[in-house]
Amino acid sequence: MCGIIAHIGEDSALSPLITGLEKLEYRGYDSAGVAVKNGSGLDVWKCSGRVSDLKNSIDDVETKANLGIGHTRWSTHGPPTDTNAHPHTDVSERVAVVHNGIVENYERIKEILIGEGYEFTSDTDTEVIPNLVSYYLDRGNEPVAAFQHTIEDLEGSYAIAAVIDGNDSIYAARQGSPLVLGVGDDEYYLASDVPAFLDHTDEVVYLEDGDMVEVMTDGVTIVDENDQLVQREIEQVDWQPDETGKGQYDHFMIKEIHTQPTSLQKTIEGRLDPDEGTTDLDVDMDLSDIDSVHLVGCGTSYHAALFGASLLNRCDVSARAIRASEYDLNTGTPSENALFIAVTQSGETADTLGALRRANDAGVDTIAVTNVVQSTAAREADEPLYIRAGPEIGVAATKTFSSQAVMLTLLGQHISSVNADASRVDNLDQLVSDLQELPDAVEQTLQTSDAARLAKKYLDNDSYFFIGRGLGCSVAKEGALKFKEITYEHAEGFASGELKHGPLALVTEETPVFAICADDCEKTVTNAKEAQTRGAPIVAVSPPSHAIADTADEHLYVPEMHPVCSNLLANVQLQLLSYHCATELDRAIDKPRNLAKSVTVE
Ligand code: F6R
Repeated sequence: MCGIIAHIGEDSALSPLITGLEKLEYRGYDSAGVAVKNGSGLDVWKCSGRVSDLKNSIDDVETKANLGIGHTRWSTHGPPTDTNAHPHTDVSERVAVVHNGIVENYERIKEILIGEGYEFTSDTDTEVIPNLVSYYLDRGNEPVAAFQHTIEDLEGSYAIAAVIDGNDSIYAARQGSPLVLGVGDDEYYLASDVPAFLDHTDEVVYLEDGDMVEVMTDGVTIVDENDQLVQREIEQVDWQPDETGKGQYDHFMIKEIHTQPTSLQKTIEGRLDPDEGTTDLDVDMDLSDIDSVHLVGCGTSYHAALFGASLLNRCDVSARAIRASEYDLNTGTPSENALFIAVTQSGETADTLGALRRANDAGVDTIAVTNVVQSTAAREADEPLYIRAGPEIGVAATKTFSSQAVMLTLLGQHISSVNADASRVDNLDQLVSDLQELPDAVEQTLQTSDAARLAKKYLDNDSYFFIGRGLGCSVAKEGALKFKEITYEHAEGFASGELKHGPLALVTEETPVFAICADDCEKTVTNAKEAQTRGAPIVAVSPPSHAIADTADEHLYVPEMHPVCSNLLANVQLQLLSYHCATELDRAIDKPRNLAKSVTVE
């Protein structure tokens, strides 16, 4: 995944391009670059490394260029070198292009263009795009036609923005990768994601696949996939500019952990009916006769899917959480009355979209539980359900896991209330009132957590185990994923009953075991004791009154609430633990080694 931005307005484009790239760096951060159109050609600056490196290299540049494009890269074709950084140009630097996605037929196009005398310098697929535009310009096409012919020749998925010397427009196209138009006062933006320009405008147009756009200072034209001129609705996003900055925090991750009281409040807003003691989820789909549910996601979203499946199974609804990358291998043909739920923060993860498309092809009902309005998953599912967690910039997902799990709880309750074969949710009254209390309970947990001290105490160990049962098992797996992702230490999350079937062989005094006992789970106490007997320090993640508390060497306490809430609070404790360990180890917390926020290749 990469981030692209383009800007046209009355003032210099350089500053909004750079700040936009800083906001998009979560999408990729191994090289960056910008191109602006000055009075006598295109100026291109690019380098390997972070956006800050690019910024330092052009700090003293002054330009009046009011039109430009920028890119922050996560390399797929070719290593992260200066040459492979975007923007890419044709050899005469007449056309500059930034691109997010993959040009699948680039080798064939490159061969043809080389045969025609065009020269290439990088290892990227992207470089064929400016050369192809140049090819069509050389054959007498106007810029807009040259860009359109180029787009018609490309196969694959892309969001592209291009500038052409001697021309006052930005040309852009979208096919399978996100691209949003920001509409300001006398200025326009194009970007992979809204935070890139949220400081300047909250008015947006979500472009459709197949759209080709020409953006000028005084207006925009959009041509759809059928070559028809179209008007697209301008929408207002309800994200605030301060949601995309770090504020008083050192890292986005800790800011986002601390934002959970607010993000959870938004997730539940208008979706609970405390007077009736029930939920009130607006689902525009008849779920009364579904006979099975597939919940599909990757990484953290898969763990939220596990959480949701566990709740549905408790209501006698047959539900499976499936890793999206395994969907075609591990799932037979879904029944006619199956429901498919894609769980994806970004709504752009290729594995999840692949599974969603297979479900759509099979004709089953599909729902996307997602954070990003109008993301590809939201558009392609029959119905989007938005978790409303606000922008998540840290690569490690935190607040969105909590909101996904709550959203799946609300959906599970909705299904159990309309489905004839389902049983009712346990203690629904308590669930509804505890969900209302959850934002405050998260705040309380954040204020009182002992995770920072335990992080120091257990820093120097071989391996970290997280165990739990039922809902606690999904929290254990999520706790371990977060831990390994940002500390680079080895961590595993297990169903606690599985410990004795193999992993116990690894347990020594150098393997702290975090036992998640946020609800009734006496058997986990036994499993923790088995590890303790082999020398492992035990940390109970539980209410103070739970039996595990007597056994454990250390504690991360959560209040006694409905299991949905107490397990989510246990997860908040583990988020803090990972964060503090990673801080002690001086890791790149918001941009962990080798990882990007969402993965748009299968
Ligand atoms: C882990 C993390 C990843 C994502 C996964 C799916 O902290 O962020 O594991 O959860 O790549 O991404 P989405 O939810 O955008 O589909």
